[in-house]
Amino acid sequence: MKAMTYRGPYRVRVEEKDRPRIEHPNDAIVRVALAAICGSDLHLYHGMMPDTRVGHTFGHEFIGVVDEVGPSVENLQVGDRVMVPFNVFCGTCFFCARGLYSNCHNVNPNATAVGGIYGYSHTTGGYDGGQAEFVRVPFADVGPSKIPDWMEDEDAVLLTDALATGYFGAQLGDIVEGDVVIVFGSGPVGLFAAKSAWLMGAGRVIVIDHLEHRLEKARTFAQAETYNFTEHDDIVVKMKKITDFLGADVAIDAVGAEADGNLIQHVTSAKLKLQGGSPVALNWAIDSVRKGGTVSVMGAYGPLFSAVKFGDAMNKGLTLRMNQCPVKRQWPRLFEHVHNGHLKPSDIVTHRIPLEHIAEGYHMFSAKLDGMIKPLITVSATS
Ligand SMILES: NC(=O)c1ccc[n+]([C@@H]2O[C@H](COP(=O)([O-])OP(=O)(O)OC[C@H]3O[C@@H](n4cnc5c(N)ncnc54)[C@H](O)[C@@H]3O)[C@@H](O)[C@H]2O)c1
Ligand SMILES: [Zn+2]
Ligand SMILES: [Zn+2]
Repeated sequence: MKAMTYRGPYRVRVEEKDRPRIEHPNDAIVRVALAAICGSDLHLYHGMMPDTRVGHTFGHEFIGVVDEVGPSVENLQVGDRVMVPFNVFCGTCFFCARGLYSNCHNVNPNATAVGGIYGYSHTTGGYDGGQAEFVRVPFADVGPSKIPDWMEDEDAVLLTDALATGYFGAQLGDIVEGDVVIVFGSGPVGLFAAKSAWLMGAGRVIVIDHLEHRLEKARTFAQAETYNFTEHDDIVVKMKKITDFLGADVAIDAVGAEADGNLIQHVTSAKLKLQGGSPVALNWAIDSVRKGGTVSVMGAYGPLFSAVKFGDAMNKGLTLRMNQCPVKRQWPRLFEHVHNGHLKPSDIVTHRIPLEHIAEGYHMFSAKLDGMIKPLITVSATS
C-alpha cells in the first residue's frame, strides 16, 4: 500500500509499505478515505518530537471504511464507515474509566505521561497513522464510531481531532456566561475553540495571531474580534487596555511549542532544543488573563521543561488546565452541534491534497503558503 513516511526533519515522502495486518483479536484494518494534516504533525515534521523514527507514517486524523476485523470485534463490521479518534485507548484502565482516554495506561510502552496517538512517533506508542491507504486500529470495539448517515466525510474527519480539541479547549476554560475569552492562535484548534466559546456562553471572544488570512477566518467563521500581535508593541498591554485593565476571564493557548513572537524563546526551543517548546503564547495567556482567571492549554509541548511564567500564574491565583484531548468524550455533544447546524467544521478546510502529493502539502502547511488553514488528504486505495 501507499503510505506517507518520515525521512528526517522537513522530509517526508510516499512509499510502498506492507499493508497492516490484524495483530490482536480486537484489531480492525481501516481503508482510509480521508485524512488531514494537523498542526501537531508540524512538530514531528520539524524534528521537534523525540523518537520520531525514519519510516514512521504520520496521521492521527482519519476516517475510512472497515476492511477487516479481528475475531473478537463485536461493534464493527466490514464495510462500516468509521471515524477514529486520534487517541489509541483501552477503555477499561484506571484512567479510561475516568474518561481520561488520552492518558490511557495500557497503550504506550514508551512513556507514562501520555497515552497512545496514531502516527505520532514512538513517544506516543509508535502506532503508524492514517496518512496511508490502510491503517491498523487497535481496540476496535473501543475507539472508532460509525459515522452517522447524515454526517459528511469532511465534517467527520475534523471531529477526530481539530474540532474536538478546540471544543475541549473551551470546556477547560470553565467559561461562564458573559466571560471575556482570548484565544491565542488562529489555526484550526484556535478557530474551533473560539467558535465553541460562544456555545458555552462567552460574552466576548478575541483571537490573536500574526497571519492575516487566519485572522480573517476568525472573524468570518468564529465571529471573533481579532488582533495581529505584530501590529502592537506589546500584545499583553493591548489586551489589558481593551479589558478595563483587568485582563480576560479565560485565555486559551492554541499555539503550543512552536510559537513565534519572541526571538530568545524561539532560539532556545526550536534551534537549540534547550526547552520542550517556546512558551510565548502560554506566557502571553498567563499575563493577559485576570487574577483568578483560567488558562486552558491545548498547544502541545515536548517532554522537556519550558520557561513558563509559573510565579506569575501562582501569584495571580490562576487555574491552569490542559491535556491531550480525550476525543471520544466530546463526540455525543459535538454530533448534536453538527447535526443542528451550530458547528460546520468543514468551513475551515482550505485544501484537498491527494496522498501522492502529501510532501508538497506538508511543505505548504509548514510554510503557511497559499492561505492554507486546514489541508485534507484524499486517499483512494489501489491495493
Ligand atoms: N491538546 C490536544 O489534544 C491537541 C490536539 C490537536 C492539536 N494540538 C496542538 O494545538 C496547537 C494548534 O494546532 P493547530 O492545528 O491549530 O496548529 P497551527 O500550526 O495550524 O496553528 C497555530 C497558529 O498559531 C499562530 N501563532 C504562532 N505564534 C503565536 C503567538 N505567539 N500568539 C498567537 N498565535 C501564534 C500561528 O501563526 C498559527 O496560525 C499545536 O501545538 C498542536 O500541536 C493539541
Ligand atoms: Zn492533532
Ligand atoms: Zn485505558
